[in-house]
Amino acid sequence: MGQPSSSRLWCLYGVSAALLALLAYYVYIPLPANISDPWKLMLLDATFRSAQQLSQLIQDMGLSHHLIALNFIIVSFGRKSAWSSKNVQITDTNFDGVEVRVFEGFPKTKEPLKSGVIYIHGGGWALASARISYYDELCSKMAEELNSVIVSVEYRLVPNVHFPEQLHDLERATKYFLQPHVLEKYSVDPERIAISGDSAGGNLAAALSQQFVQDDTFRDKIKLQALIYPVLQALDFNTPSYQQNMNSPILPRHVMIRYWIDYLKGNQEFVQAMVVNNHTSLDVERAATLRSRLDWLSLLPESITKDYRPVMQTVGNAQIVQELPQLLDMRSAPLVADKEVLQNLPKTYILTCEHDVLRDDGIMYVKRLEGVGVDVTHDHFEDAFHGCMIFTSWPTNFSVGVRTRDSYIKWLKENL
Ligand SMILES: *[C@@H]1O[C@H](CO)[C@@H](O)[C@H](O)[C@H]1NC(C)=O
Ligand SMILES: *[C@@H]1O[C@H](CO)[C@@H](O)[C@H](O)[C@H]1NC(C)=O
Ligand SMILES: *[C@@H]1O[C@H](CO)[C@@H](O)[C@H](O)[C@H]1NC(C)=O
Repeated sequence: MGQPSSSRLWCLYGVSAALLALLAYYVYIPLPANISDPWKLMLLDATFRSAQQLSQLIQDMGLSHHLIALNFIIVSFGRKSAWSSKNVQITDTNFDGVEVRVFEGFPKTKEPLKSGVIYIHGGGWALASARISYYDELCSKMAEELNSVIVSVEYRLVPNVHFPEQLHDLERATKYFLQPHVLEKYSVDPERIAISGDSAGGNLAAALSQQFVQDDTFRDKIKLQALIYPVLQALDFNTPSYQQNMNSPILPRHVMIRYWIDYLKGNQEFVQAMVVNNHTSLDVERAATLRSRLDWLSLLPESITKDYRPVMQTVGNAQIVQELPQLLDMRSAPLVADKEVLQNLPKTYILTCEHDVLRDDGIMYVKRLEGVGVDVTHDHFEDAFHGCMIFTSWPTNFSVGVRTRDSYIKWLKENL
């Protein structure tokens, strides 16, 4: 009697152990010793990876575009309806047809006037929302701490719209907000307005700031830009940080390239060629002048460049830039803008993470802006990973999430 049941028990143990090993294999990724809360990061990364794989499966079954499926998962888990407390009032409305979530700090006081921030959430131009808890918490915290009005823009996403529609939505909402009667309604001081965003939102914030300094009506309306681990260029996917972090959590290199291609409505078959910089090889004439603005051997410090070599193909694939000329457009890649545009930009804050493919995009922008006399604060975190600033609440709370957020808000407090 005991014999078969104990062997069944062993079998059960065996299966459990095998499943556990499989799970551990799926979750485990080698991480740098210095990274913040590594086990938690592995779980977060595994969760995100499985959501991505599930979405890909949904697309392969012909049910929906994988980005729509993925965003459905993200938004269903994270949606938070507008709420208010004694310190912040939150309202969903629209600015000239563009949906926004507005966070007003200390709504009871009319005077003194508040500062204002246009906030642009990240998510590869395709994911997330101003209305998910991560961004809701960040913006309400900002509204409270800065006694500010934060306009978190619900711009339209890939695959419903592509470049430059995201930028157009942001321009419309921002121009609406900047009208004197609207600022007055929200008790906002027209002299104290910032544009800010993280990741793809940092890309859009940088592009929007560049658009405004080229527009006579809006040239001096923005006091600050604050860019959190921004995406700034698509010419070189082999900067030292792309090489160092090609398999880093949350945003491996091939995933970043896929976001780029989807943003520009291109063909995903280009990914492998772009990984080796075939799209900007020496025989692609159109890339030549821009390549010189992105020479990281001159833009990055030797401490970073010494262990890496540029990846520059002699012969590549000219068809990619022919089909996707937007890859070289400064509205998608603000890092390659002319000096004449850069020199008019407002005071700037750039936050970078060591363990992030986009680290060097940020560092090169710091260097280019400093080179034309823009006042720049560079805030670098050695133990940080891409996307960390929104991970401040249990169970996805990271010590570096809290530190990056506090450091960012502190800079805004001192400068806005
Ligand atoms: C770890 O981080 C510290 C600063 O926080 C830095 O000085 C050190 O070089 C880093 N070590 C490695 C191996 O990256
Ligand atoms: C890059 O371009 C070269 C020349 O056209 C080609 O031989 C090579 O296969 C390409 N590499 C990739 C990964 O597409
Ligand atoms: C996350 O939050 C929990 C509960 O508040 C806390 O015990 C833990 O120390 C936090 N972890 C980090 C890394 O901040």
